Amino acid sequence: MNRAATVLVVEDDAAMRDSCAKLFRLEGYQVAEAPSAAEALKEIARRDDIDVVLTDLKMPGMDGVTLLKEIKRLAPDVDVVLMTGYGSIQSAVEAIKHGAADYITKPFDTNELLMTVGKIVQLSGLREEVSRLRSELRRKYRFDNIIGSSECMQAVYKRIEAARNSNSSVLICGDSGTGKELVAKAIHYDGLRAEGPFVPINCAAIPRDLIESELFGHKRGAFTGAVSDSAGLFWAANGGTLFLDEILDMPYATQAKLLRALQEKRIRRIGDAQERPIDVRVIASTNQDVQRAIRDSTFREDLYYRLSVIRIDVPPLCERREDIPALVRHFIDTFNETFDRTVNGISDEALDILTRHDWPGNVRELEGAVEHAFAVGKSHVIQAGELSIHLAARPGPGGHDVKFQTLTEAERDLLVQAMTAADGNKAMAARLLGISRPRLYKMIERHRLRD
Ligand SMILES: Nc1ncnc2c1ncn2[C@@H]1O[C@H](COP(=O)(O)OP(=O)(O)OP(=O)(O)O)[C@@H](O)[C@H]1O
Ligand SMILES: [Mg+2]
Repeated sequence: MNRAATVLVVEDDAAMRDSCAKLFRLEGYQVAEAPSAAEALKEIARRDDIDVVLTDLKMPGMDGVTLLKEIKRLAPDVDVVLMTGYGSIQSAVEAIKHGAADYITKPFDTNELLMTVGKIVQLSGLREEVSRLRSELRRKYRFDNIIGSSECMQAVYKRIEAARNSNSSVLICGDSGTGKELVAKAIHYDGLRAEGPFVPINCAAIPRDLIESELFGHKRGAFTGAVSDSAGLFWAANGGTLFLDEILDMPYATQAKLLRALQEKRIRRIGDAQERPIDVRVIASTNQDVQRAIRDSTFREDLYYRLSVIRIDVPPLCERREDIPALVRHFIDTFNETFDRTVNGISDEALDILTRHDWPGNVRELEGAVEHAFAVGKSHVIQAGELSIHLAARPGPGGHDVKFQTLTEAERDLLVQAMTAADGNKAMAARLLGISRPRLYKMIERHRLRD
């Protein structure tokens, strides 16, 4: 919340109302006042900047709890704090059930009041921030941010369309860098669960003996090292989507638990006796051969059928070369924004090289090639010479007449090229080569290169 928060003080006792209002003004809040619930409702209807309503519980006419219910109906985002007299805790509890943010018992000291309201304002600021970030993510990962109109991508879009309008499990298959995660995000952020969380987990990156507790959570003391309770990622994804990246790397025993969780829609933390119902949509992905993993008995066939209710195969880039110009255009636009540059195109020769390359690293490699050209290029049009070295130097089809260099020679060549391209800037040269700066320094020393 950037502006000062506004508090509406509702209290029939004029002296009490006045002193509360003064207190909040002194703390830098904007303050509105109302002597009754009816006046308060008018005030809320009249202006839209009220963040918190602080209201007495007992007032002539409409009481605080009725006011609360009305506010939640008219303006659900407004937080309500009730001031209750001694002995009315019961109504305070009732009020919380009806959506009050908090209550405070009279007599209270001013610090207590300021703390209570301050905490609520902070929380609602966080809520706003989360919803702002979420809508930013939605914009960023909308379906139409996936570039490519080739026939094989049209087939992918059809599946995405089906997936985003359902809650079925999805299995996304495709080589590394083809855009599987992008597809998963489009299904989530453009689908029924966009308001919920998107929780990714890379099954290959988590130690095998920890993955189960990462997924399902654990109770403190459930195993050595479980020093505190953990809710687990399944729980974190409740109401949203759990993205299980590299699913084939999930240990066989864990696969059975996952299958059970999907079937029962319930999970149990390790060390917990109780199961909890859960509402999570699962999207899994892999860049390996699923059928083979099933044959080799490293991936459970029953889990495969449960996950691949909707299966999406993202084709490798070399099968959709006609999409390359549009992708290049897209990455030029993105990097112009990221690096604050004004590259406006690519030469025919350079584009020709890009459309003919084999792209073993798929779209990610293409993205890297355009970024490389941005790093080394100075003009407004990307030139063939500015494409990644290995790309430009790649022999054409059937070209076997490459003269082999020793590894040391090749390393020195690359080093010189990178240093030249980076205008002697070592940090940039290290980045171009994809190595650390200390490693670059060692290479420079080894090849006795002078700046
Ligand atoms: N069709 C596309 N349009 C725009 N950008 C794309 C497209 N496909 C992939 N990208 C971009 O390429 C990069 C790699 O995509 P992503 O991470 O989704 O691939 P992946 O299939 O999950 O790869 P891996 O198997 O290595 O995890 C990302 O920066 C992504 O934004
Ligand atoms: Mg990925």
